[in-house]
Amino acid sequence: MSAPEIQISPSVLPADFSRLGETVKALQDGGADRIHWDVMDGVFVPNLTFGPDVIHSCRSSVDIPFEAHLMVIDADELIPRYVEAGCDIILVHQEACTHLHRTLERIRDLGVSPGVVLNPATPVVTIEHVMDLVDQVLVMTVNPGFGGQAYIENMEPKIAQVAELIRLSGRDIDLEVDGGLGVDTVAGSAEAGANVVVAGSAVFKDPDGFGHAIPAIRDAALAACG
Ligand code: DX5
Ligand code: ZN
Repeated sequence: MSAPEIQISPSVLPADFSRLGETVKALQDGGADRIHWDVMDGVFVPNLTFGPDVIHSCRSSVDIPFEAHLMVIDADELIPRYVEAGCDIILVHQEACTHLHRTLERIRDLGVSPGVVLNPATPVVTIEHVMDLVDQVLVMTVNPGFGGQAYIENMEPKIAQVAELIRLSGRDIDLEVDGGLGVDTVAGSAEAGANVVVAGSAVFKDPDGFGHAIPAIRDAALAACG
C-alpha cells in the first residue's frame, strides 16, 4: 500500500495581521497545501479573529484552498458569508451545531466541502450518523481558542477511532488534526490515521522559515506512516 499523501494546512492565527496577503503567498510558496483560517466569535471560544472580509481580501493572493475552522456559536448564520469570501472547505464544530446534519447539508448545497470538528472531550460516536455528509473530520488535539498550546497525546486513540469510522464509511474522507502539531508531535497523529495536519506555531516559529517548516512536518508525518 503506498504511503498516504500528507497535506499541511498552516493556521494563520500566529501571523502579523497587517501582512496577511503576503503571508498566505509565502505559505503557498513554502509548500502549504491549504490555508487554515481560525474563525473565532468570542462566544464559542474566548477569542475573536477573522471576519469574512479579511479572508476575502487574501483570496486572490493564492490559488490553494482556504479552509474556515468555524469556532462560532451560530455557524448557520455565518457559513454563506465565508463561502462568498472564497473558502473552499467549511469546518463546523459538532458541539456548536444544534442541527448538525442539516448544517452539513447546507454547506454541500452551497457548493463547498463540509467538515466536522470534534473537541477533545467530544466522543466519536456523535458523528457516526453524518459520515455520508462530510469530506473531512477534524480532531482537535488542543482545546480550541488559542495557538501555541501543548499537543494532547491522549487524542491519538480517538484519531484511530475516527480512522476506523472513515474506513467503515467506504468514503474518501480526510482526517485532519489541529493543535500543537509540529515535527516532534505529528508522528503519533499520522500513525493513528491523520492525513491533513494543521500547524500554526510550528510553522511560524521555525527560524529557517516556512519553506523548511512545512516540508519538515510533512516528512515527519510520512516517516511515521512507513
Ligand atoms: C486553535 C486553532 C488551531 C491553532 C493551531 O483553536 O483551531 O488551528 O491555531 O495553532 P498551533 O499549531 O500553534 O497549536
Ligand atoms: Zn484550527
